[in-house]
Amino acid sequence: MFGKKKTTTPIDKDQLELIENAQKRIKQKKSLYIHFVIFLIGAVFLILANTVLGIGENFTILGKEWFLYAILLWSFFFIYHIFNVFITHKFMGKAWEKQQLEKLVAKQQKRIEKLKSNLVKEETKIAKSDVFNATTSLSQNTTSKKHSPELTIIVAAAENDAIGKDNKLIWHLGDDLKRFKSLTNGHHIIMGRKTFESFPKPLPNRTHIVITRQSDYHVPDGVIVVNNLEDAIDAAKKDSQPFIIGGGEIYKQALLIATKIELTRVHATFEADTFFPEIDTNIWKETANTFHPKDEKHKHEFSFLTYERAH
Ligand SMILES: NC(=O)c1ccc[n+]([C@@H]2O[C@H](COP(=O)([O-])OP(=O)(O)OC[C@H]3O[C@@H](n4cnc5c(N)ncnc54)[C@H](OP(=O)(O)O)[C@@H]3O)[C@@H](O)[C@H]2O)c1
Repeated sequence: MFGKKKTTTPIDKDQLELIENAQKRIKQKKSLYIHFVIFLIGAVFLILANTVLGIGENFTILGKEWFLYAILLWSFFFIYHIFNVFITHKFMGKAWEKQQLEKLVAKQQKRIEKLKSNLVKEETKIAKSDVFNATTSLSQNTTSKKHSPELTIIVAAAENDAIGKDNKLIWHLGDDLKRFKSLTNGHHIIMGRKTFESFPKPLPNRTHIVITRQSDYHVPDGVIVVNNLEDAIDAAKKDSQPFIIGGGEIYKQALLIATKIELTRVHATFEADTFFPEIDTNIWKETANTFHPKDEKHKHEFSFLTYERAH
């Protein structure tokens, strides 16, 4: 309160100009008003001078009293004054408008320059934060990957990627089936409706999840039916390693999101109607490879390969 400096708001140059113009305008209007009053009084005086006081009583022009011409002339002057106030010296006239426009353009240009420089600063900030975000999300992804379920594709495919024909497997390889059973034992197995129908009955000790677009697809007790792959994965979310067990349609979709592939590569080519998609080695890295020779129980030689997602 005490000793506080009184702050004065500086008047902007434009504001000052506006005030000055407004004052000028008031003066112009005031003088017009005074002119009008004087004109009225003057006109009455001229009439009275002629009619009452008898000034120039006998002076007429074209048969009309002289004061009529005097009032008419004054009227012209008065109209000229009105014209001058409202039209010629109009407040915020063309020149003034032009001047203001130029000022406004200059001001806007300054503002644009300022915005531009702010934008550059902002972009730099965003770029920096993007790098930060990317680094953060990368580390988050790495951590979440470690804890998320290992979605594993398990498949047996020939050298030409054949996996089935007429909704059946093309070969019988006992040790491959054994491996399938031991790996999937106790886990959720996700499959397409056609693969499910290729089984004589559900496999023991595994939770079957069948994907179909049908809304009223009937299955034995304990089998879960879903309408898309996401729901299938969701239904298996408590499993640390759910398996995608086929067939061709489901493998194709799951390959985009799976983290591991357990592939039995049968070293022969077969005629087929269903195929496994080509494994992109830019995405998938081979981490294990065990060869199984041909023998009396196995008509073809094959290898157990494990791929893990690198990207
Ligand atoms: N070699 C191996 O390791 C292996 C493993 C498994 C299977 N197989 C073979 O693969 C063949 C079967 O494969 P496949 O490609 O014909 O059929 P599939 O993938 O087993 O099943 C296809 C069916 O799944 C459902 N489906 C697919 N995508 C879906 C989606 N996005 N949303 C909802 N439902 C979806 C549809 O069922 P609806 O028509 O009911 O809608 C579709 O007809 C058989 O020959 C089988 O023996 C081989």
